[in-house]
Amino acid sequence: MSDGPLVIGIETSCDETGVGVVRGQELLADAVASSVDEHARFGGVVPEVASRAHLEAMVPTIERACETAGIKMYDVDAVAVTSGPGLAGALLVGVAAAKALAVGLSKPLYGVNHLAAHVAVDQLEHGALPEPCVALLVSGGHSSLLRVGDVTRDVVPMGATIDDAAGEAFDKVARLLGLPFPGGPHIDREARSGSSVAIDFPRGLTSRRDLERHRFDFSFSGLKTAVARWVETREAAGEPVPVADVAASFQEAVCDVLTRKAVDAAAAAGIEDILLGGGVAANSRLRVLAEERAAAKGIRLRVPRPGLCTDNGAMVAALGSELVARGRQPSMLDLPADSSMPVTLVTA
Ligand code: KG4
Ligand code: ZN
Repeated sequence: MSDGPLVIGIETSCDETGVGVVRGQELLADAVASSVDEHARFGGVVPEVASRAHLEAMVPTIERACETAGIKMYDVDAVAVTSGPGLAGALLVGVAAAKALAVGLSKPLYGVNHLAAHVAVDQLEHGALPEPCVALLVSGGHSSLLRVGDVTRDVVPMGATIDDAAGEAFDKVARLLGLPFPGGPHIDREARSGSSVAIDFPRGLTSRRDLERHRFDFSFSGLKTAVARWVETREAAGEPVPVADVAASFQEAVCDVLTRKAVDAAAAAGIEDILLGGGVAANSRLRVLAEERAAAKGIRLRVPRPGLCTDNGAMVAALGSELVARGRQPSMLDLPADSSMPVTLVTA
């Protein structure tokens, strides 16, 4: 058994109720209950539905995590919880549960930033994080390029989306193509039998003029509109829509911009390590293209396995463990749920 603090982490910022247990940098349990099926018919996450599902799943998921980890709740050294950013009502459920645990067990409470947790999770798979590194975080709710030094207190934004998140674009385009929600995995699958060069979709914020102001920022709403127009034109002409080709060409446009900007950001900052995280990092084309482009520039790439890229409690526990190991101050018991917590604030 490895050394280090035993930490339980709770994540409820969106539609996954995640409870993870780690000891130091070792993952002991990662229990996730998702309400995604309840949102599918609405084509997106419904906040009230997510909050209620968290309430129902919280206690069983904590119990399942402790059982898998082979620990008793009172064994833990600290309780960590996502305090933001995310859906306010959903965050509240996790924060309230974490406070109850911390008070009941007389253990310190750490309210942590969801984005920093997406970075810290990689430690559970690949060991201590390279310092500094560039993190590309892409999910349904966020698309950011961060410069990360010490993950417990040095997270600096380099760029972010100015409109839709990358995952949101995947979900919206999937819907256009008649694929189920969440669309990312379905586009990924369809794209395998399509051609990525069939349709030349736009690459947002890559023109020379845009790069002057938005070198490391992203924009996916123009791409989404371009796909919609292309599909409409085909339908209006009474021609079949080649779903696989549209999926592959759209996916290529997203992955091209994400990887190009991430590698450019690392090169510009003289940083030799890039880390991918967030649900879209599960995308098979993104993983391959990022690896190719990073290698071409002599940059190392770290990507957690897909299950640790999507929202989970282990990532919160991983960051909590690092906070304890580095002797950072715990949060106060009046810790708020902060739906728009800035990325520079690692703990609340
Ligand atoms: O990190 P995550 O689980 O939750 C958020 O914080 O949003 O990310 C979910 C997002 C969804 O938009 C989903 O479509 C996308 O990640 N996603 C993918 C893939 N798997 C999940 N997008 C592209 N390719 C995938 N294989
Ligand atoms: Zn996330």
